[in-house]
Amino acid sequence: MSETQFRALVVEEAEPKKFVSSIKTRSLDELPPGGVLVRVHYSALNYKDALSSVGNRGVTRNYPHTPGVDASGIVAASDDARFAAGDEVLVTSYDLGMNTDGGLGEYIRVPVDWVVKLPPGMTLKRAMMFGTAGLTAGLMIDALVKHGLEPAQGPVLVTGATGGVGSLAVAILAKAGYQVAAVTGKADAADFLVSLGASQVVSRESVIDTQRPMLKEQWAGVVDVVGGDMLASALKAMRYGGVATCAGLVGSPELHTSVFPFILRGITLVGIDSAECPMARRVAVWNKLADEWRPDCLEDLTTEITLEEVADRLAALLQGNAHGHYVVKMAG
Ligand SMILES: NC(=O)c1ccc[n+]([C@@H]2O[C@H](COP(=O)([O-])OP(=O)(O)OC[C@H]3O[C@@H](n4cnc5c(N)ncnc54)[C@H](OP(=O)(O)O)[C@@H]3O)[C@@H](O)[C@H]2O)c1
Repeated sequence: MSETQFRALVVEEAEPKKFVSSIKTRSLDELPPGGVLVRVHYSALNYKDALSSVGNRGVTRNYPHTPGVDASGIVAASDDARFAAGDEVLVTSYDLGMNTDGGLGEYIRVPVDWVVKLPPGMTLKRAMMFGTAGLTAGLMIDALVKHGLEPAQGPVLVTGATGGVGSLAVAILAKAGYQVAAVTGKADAADFLVSLGASQVVSRESVIDTQRPMLKEQWAGVVDVVGGDMLASALKAMRYGGVATCAGLVGSPELHTSVFPFILRGITLVGIDSAECPMARRVAVWNKLADEWRPDCLEDLTTEITLEEVADRLAALLQGNAHGHYVVKMAG
């Protein structure tokens, strides 16, 4: 391979509506022009990458394409004085891995406004142990805190708890001193969730109630990535003045609820977007993840894989069989 070539996962439409992934040699001049060229050291897997890998046009319009909404690495070249060759950086979301070639390639070239300097105390690998999943969990917990939720007010319900966002949310909340009730559909996940810091593990069925308009007050806070009946049921079981955050739709994008939880218990529902989240808030949350929100069990909930293993893991993500968070070693 020449110096201008690199390896990348490439998704192609082999025949109409049939998408296949393979590792190919690509060239730097195929990357978008301008901005910051980064030699990727680590990437991480997200649900969005799985959608991109099967031709979901809501995520990626044109193929062939290299997915990967997350990357950390070292600047190889920059046309902006804010970054210089040798800087350690991370890039998550914006359009990375969607319609801009992503972190599942050994190089990315991105607009300078997407690039975050690695915070003090963070390493390239640890940044991807968090990745977009950790940033999203961090933004959700930051929203709970900003809305005044304190640990003494009661348990925080985390849905999709064994997944990427959910597992990191459980671990960060526990580190920040909150009691966590983790919802999972996996019968054998209790030990794993307790090891992350959950004080209670509950089944999906025990949370979902589509019949009654209101439920007994249980949750002071909610961190939801499931949507649909799960979120609607969690809202009905919130304690007076509680705060819920929602970021995902693995169960359903629909939300059928009533105004009762809002007007009878004064609850708040906050939507979370990590993709276009303003840089100042993004950097503030990354700084917390590097320091007081870094869970001791971060290594335990992360599995390091190679680029060769990515296609199988993305298929498992699509089937809801994710377990923790996957970091992809791209260099070194
Ligand atoms: N708003 C944002 O900025 C943002 C950022 C990142 C991700 N997201 C969204 O957040 C969601 C989760 O992402 P992720 O990366 O954590 O995904 P993930 O790793 O695949 O985890 C999702 C978890 O949800 C649970 N689950 C799966 N299907 C379910 C169903 N039908 N009903 C109830 N629970 C189900 C499973 O956990 P259990 O088996 O433990 O229940 C699964 O492990 C996705 O919708 C993603 O697009 C949004």
